Amino acid sequence: MRSSSCFVAAALFACVLASSAQSAPKPAPTVAATPPMGWNSWNFFAEKVTEQDIKNAADQMVATGMRDAGYVYINIDDTWEGERDAQGVLHPNAKFPDMKGLADYVHARGLKLGIYSGPGAKTCGGYTASLGHEEQDAKMYAAWGVDYLKYDLCSFREDVMYPKALHDKPEQARLMIAAYDKMGKALESSGRPIVYSLCQYGWDSVWEWGASVGGNLWRTTGDVEANWPSIYNIISEQAGLAKYSGPGHWNDPDMLEVGNGRLTLEENHAHFSMWAMLAAPLLAGNDLPKMKPEIKAILTNKDVIALDQDSLGQQARRVYTDGEVEVWTRPLAGGAEALAVLNAGPERVATHPFHLPLAALDLHAGPAKDLWTGKTIVLQENMPVELKRHDILLLRIPAAQ
Ligand code: GAL
Repeated sequence: MRSSSCFVAAALFACVLASSAQSAPKPAPTVAATPPMGWNSWNFFAEKVTEQDIKNAADQMVATGMRDAGYVYINIDDTWEGERDAQGVLHPNAKFPDMKGLADYVHARGLKLGIYSGPGAKTCGGYTASLGHEEQDAKMYAAWGVDYLKYDLCSFREDVMYPKALHDKPEQARLMIAAYDKMGKALESSGRPIVYSLCQYGWDSVWEWGASVGGNLWRTTGDVEANWPSIYNIISEQAGLAKYSGPGHWNDPDMLEVGNGRLTLEENHAHFSMWAMLAAPLLAGNDLPKMKPEIKAILTNKDVIALDQDSLGQQARRVYTDGEVEVWTRPLAGGAEALAVLNAGPERVATHPFHLPLAALDLHAGPAKDLWTGKTIVLQENMPVELKRHDILLLRIPAAQ
C-alpha cells in the first residue's frame, strides 16, 4: 500500500522509487548484510591524509586486533584526487602515488579499501569529483580493487541543482536522486561488489529512497563532531528512523569520534553503545597508532560489536524518557533484546536515581548481561539505576524462557 506521503507532489519521484523497492522481492544482500565496520581517514586526518597514513591504519587494524574484532574497511576520505587527463581518466594526486598498489597492500592484510567522490564537479574539499564521469570512475575503482565508495553531494548543488532548478525544490530533489541513482547503476555494472555509501546529510528524507538507488547506507545527519552536543543531537535525530534500516541498507548517523576530541570516558562509552544500538556502520575515525588502551577496549568490545552486528538488523527505538534519561530498546535475533539507559544530563545518584519501568516497557524481570562490565544484573520492576553524566547502561536481555 502506498503511504500518504506518496500523494505529496514534492515527494512523488522518491515515492515511486521507494514503492517499487518495497514491492520487489528482497534478495539477500551481497554487501553490507550487517552494518559495515572499518576506519575512515576524515575525522582525524581530514585533508592531510596520505598513502602512508592509510598503510599505517591498515597495519594498526591488524596489530590492535580491530580487524579480528570485525573492522574491515580502510576508507580514504576526501583529498586523494588529482586531475583528469585528456581521456577523462582521474589520476590521484601526489599524496597517493599508486592506488592499485595501496589496494593490494590493504587486501594483503585481510582488509578492504574504501574511496570517496561525489556527484558534483568538486568534492567538499574542492578536489575533482565524478560529474559526467560516473561510469568511467566506477570502472576505475573496480580496476584498482576498491570495495566501498562514499559519495558526497558537495558541489552538485552549485553545479547542477541550483543552476537547473533554483526555485524548484522538488526538481532539485529529483536531480539529486537521479545523480545518486546514476552512480548506483555505474557501481552495479562495474563488475565488482562495492558498498555504496550515500552522503548528502539526510536531505529529502534519504532513508525513504536511499535503498532504491542502490545505497547500502546513507548519512541521516550533518557532520559529526568530537563533542557531546554533536553526538547527542545525532542520537536524538535517529528516533523514528528504525523502520528504514535493515540488512543491506542502513541508516548512517556518521562515523565514530570515539577517542577523538575531549570526549570523556562515559561519553565515549555512550557514543559507541548508541551507535551499536542503532545498527549503525562502525567506522572508527581516530589515530590508530596512538590509540589509548581504554579507547581500544571500547572499540574492540566483542559484546557491543555483536549487538551492532546482530543478524536481525533492527535499529533501536526510543521507548521512554524521564527528564534527560532515555531508554532505547532493540530486538535481537533469537528473541533476545538490547536495552540502553542513556543519561544525557547531569549525574543521577543514590538520592534520586532513575527508576526503570520494566513492565510498562514490555521487558521481563530476570538476569541480563551488562555489556561494559560483563557482569549479570538482575532486572526488577522499577529498579533504581545510577548513572554518571552522559553515561549509559547497556544490557543484553536473553529471550524469555
Ligand atoms: C563532508 C562530509 C564529511 C567529509 C568531508 C570531506 O561533506 O560530510 O564526512 O567527507 O565532506 O570534505
